[in-house]
Amino acid sequence: MLVAGVNEFSEIEHFAVDWRKKFYGKPLAVLFPKDVNEVSCLITLVNRTEGLSIVPQGGNTGLAGGATPNREGNQLIVSLKRLNLVRAVDSLNKSLIAEAGCTLIELQRVIAKSKLSFPLDFSSRNFASLGGLLATNAGGLSVLKYGTAKEFCLGLEVVLPDGEIWNGLKTLRKDNSGYSLKDLFIGSEGTLGVITAASMRLFSPVEEKITYIVKTPNLASAIELFGQICHRTQDNILAFEFMEKDAIDLVRRHFPERVPHFFKQDTNYVACIVEFPATYQRGDCDINSLSDVFWNKRICSYQKKCSDKEGKEVWYLRESITFASAKDGPQVKNDISLPISKIPDFVKYITRKFNQLYPHGAFINFGHIGDGNLHFNFAPFFNKLPPEGKGKAAEIADFIQNKEESIRGLINDAVVLYDGSITAEHGIGRLRKSENIRLKSDVELEMMRRIKYSLDPRNILNPEVLF
Ligand code: MLT
Ligand code: ZN
Repeated sequence: MLVAGVNEFSEIEHFAVDWRKKFYGKPLAVLFPKDVNEVSCLITLVNRTEGLSIVPQGGNTGLAGGATPNREGNQLIVSLKRLNLVRAVDSLNKSLIAEAGCTLIELQRVIAKSKLSFPLDFSSRNFASLGGLLATNAGGLSVLKYGTAKEFCLGLEVVLPDGEIWNGLKTLRKDNSGYSLKDLFIGSEGTLGVITAASMRLFSPVEEKITYIVKTPNLASAIELFGQICHRTQDNILAFEFMEKDAIDLVRRHFPERVPHFFKQDTNYVACIVEFPATYQRGDCDINSLSDVFWNKRICSYQKKCSDKEGKEVWYLRESITFASAKDGPQVKNDISLPISKIPDFVKYITRKFNQLYPHGAFINFGHIGDGNLHFNFAPFFNKLPPEGKGKAAEIADFIQNKEESIRGLINDAVVLYDGSITAEHGIGRLRKSENIRLKSDVELEMMRRIKYSLDPRNILNPEVLF
């Protein structure tokens, strides 16, 4: 097993700090086991040692600090990077078995060779790994059609907190033999076991796609548009994403070359990316029959069918929002989930409140509106610095330090009021732990605690996240 001790490798920072550089950990060491048996040995050892715990880590691309250790030097990062074999692809069964360290992009490539597709996709595809995306039940850009990671995971191999290996790598579509144990580990953020491999369902690839960019005057119209398109196409949509104007302007500020020319700097709008399989055009219900929906002036102010090149540009713009946000400075990042029908009222309610309290800030609102998932990130001083400003970076840093918790609290209270969840796809991690404890019912927290302590009575697996 490879071991990197603190001060040994300059790259240790790469493992000790989260992607957004919000959480800085000080691990005792970073360990790189090469297979499931080595993972088992080291967990067994830690389980027998007083005062140590483990933080499992995949590509370290998470946005909630769930794979960052504490600063006390008593946690070991277990990187799953070296477990990177695709063990089997079964084309007829449309399934694969792969190890936790395989990156999303590798999986997409390997599977494409078998003329199949791995449907999960998001902008950190080059680094995000299978184990991490299951431990956080990741979502991304194709959830609308395929669901989150959980929905196409067929089985898992997991090292339990006592070092025991559970081989649950079945590739069945149906298995009704008692508790669905894999679902306990998916989304558990490494607190119940270390996922070392998974069997995943594969799909027939959509060879050709048609991408539209549609502007609507507001979110309510975007949601109405979504509803009408779902109805007309019998839910035959691959993606329905949205970006409010401020989100696009943020990309324009940092990467102007990534904003296609048809996004002029006009008045307020919500831009939607709507994608269909091209085969749909040849089916009973031709895509042209949607033209009256797109041309409905009440809900659409602009529509454009993109060429392949323009389609790629539009997706590049969409994926650039996170990178532009990181360049712009700290924000209060949110990943909320709401019933789609309640989104417009939620946004109205919270923006009215914030316009009074923080007139210099803005919500960088974008995400997966078809899934009811908003990345509703508050950027302090997005509009302008206060007159007594001492420089943008310092103002933002002060603001985040003093106000982040109360702002997140205000937003989350509204999320609960509108029957939502404080995280849709990024997870709780360190970032939302206190809010999770504040807002979950006692019954839910108690059930989660009982599950945790029955599997991990010594609390050695990622003990500082979730609750
Ligand atoms: C995305 O959908 O681009 C990411 O999940 C959003 C984020 O960076 O908040
Ligand atoms: Zn997202």
